[in-house]
Amino acid sequence: MSGSLSYIIPFEPPPLLRERITVLGIESTSHTFGVGIVEYDGGRRVSILANVNKRYVPAKGGIHPREASITHMRNSKEAIEEALAQAGLKIKEIHSIAVALGPGLGPCIRVGATIARFLSSRLGKPLIPVNHAVAHVEIGKLVSGLSDPLVVYVSGGNTMILAGREKSYRVYGETLDIPLGNLFDTFTREIGIAPPYVVGGKHALDLCSEWGSEFIPLPYVVKGNDLSFSGLLTAALQLARREGRVDKKRLGDICLSLRETAFNMLVEVAERALLTTEKKSILLVGGVASNTYLNRKFELMAGEHNVVYKATPQEFSGDNGAMIAYTGLLNFIHGIVVEPSKAYVRQRWRVDEVEVPWVR
Ligand code: FE2
Repeated sequence: MSGSLSYIIPFEPPPLLRERITVLGIESTSHTFGVGIVEYDGGRRVSILANVNKRYVPAKGGIHPREASITHMRNSKEAIEEALAQAGLKIKEIHSIAVALGPGLGPCIRVGATIARFLSSRLGKPLIPVNHAVAHVEIGKLVSGLSDPLVVYVSGGNTMILAGREKSYRVYGETLDIPLGNLFDTFTREIGIAPPYVVGGKHALDLCSEWGSEFIPLPYVVKGNDLSFSGLLTAALQLARREGRVDKKRLGDICLSLRETAFNMLVEVAERALLTTEKKSILLVGGVASNTYLNRKFELMAGEHNVVYKATPQEFSGDNGAMIAYTGLLNFIHGIVVEPSKAYVRQRWRVDEVEVPWVR
């Protein structure tokens, strides 16, 4: 990140605290060890002073939790030092420490939690618990300036439609089995075109889709307002193994059809949730938010309903430390802190269990 970025919090913070503070946030729930630092001016302005993210990339296969956690441990010191240097601050000048305690992979979350507990106790700074999913939503809202959107959260670990209501985020639809990002990663890995999953900003599935031109019908599974991708994955894999091996164009058709089917399912449930919730804007967050093709689909759908549509820019859509620091700040100014000895890891901490006092 070059230079600090300044934003206005898209709601009125409570009059609890009217002073300048800095929060250092640690993210380690999955493949990224991230350290972000934000500065709050005591009013509504927040500056992102640092956002340093070190990613674990598996040599082959998917994320191995223990291997990822070891990589996080190795990267942690450097990431914290780099973030402090970016912000031009010393650790003693940090007011409080925020950490993502879940949901995610146990061994990975524990690395961030251990470091955060240590920093908090050693330096005598408040410790702030942060839910990773809420953090994706909040950073998206901050950089887009949208105060009350329908949120579509799509990543390697999550697929959910969320909307704020009475101090929490309610789930208006979610995957019943695998997340959308995981569908794309598993498919491309199984047919031998990944990892790496992303090349030049494009997912391997997007690159493969460019070889094809014809749509092949695949299982389209929407149950109520929930989604199921596992049947789609199996069907696409069977087809690719049978027909895609010999013919690049045919493999392209399968990739294109898989992407088209999965995205259409997602847009369908999001559209229904939009009509149910009557929100006036849609916000895409999570690692898949930067997908150009998905963005085009959401732009069209939002245009038809005359609502604003925004996607979170890449720097803040994937897992990152800045989103934990910023959400930590929101928690702190609403009085949410935790004793280091009680900062437990919560692998299955659902977003709709989190108290979000700033949401009306
Ligand atoms: Fe994430």
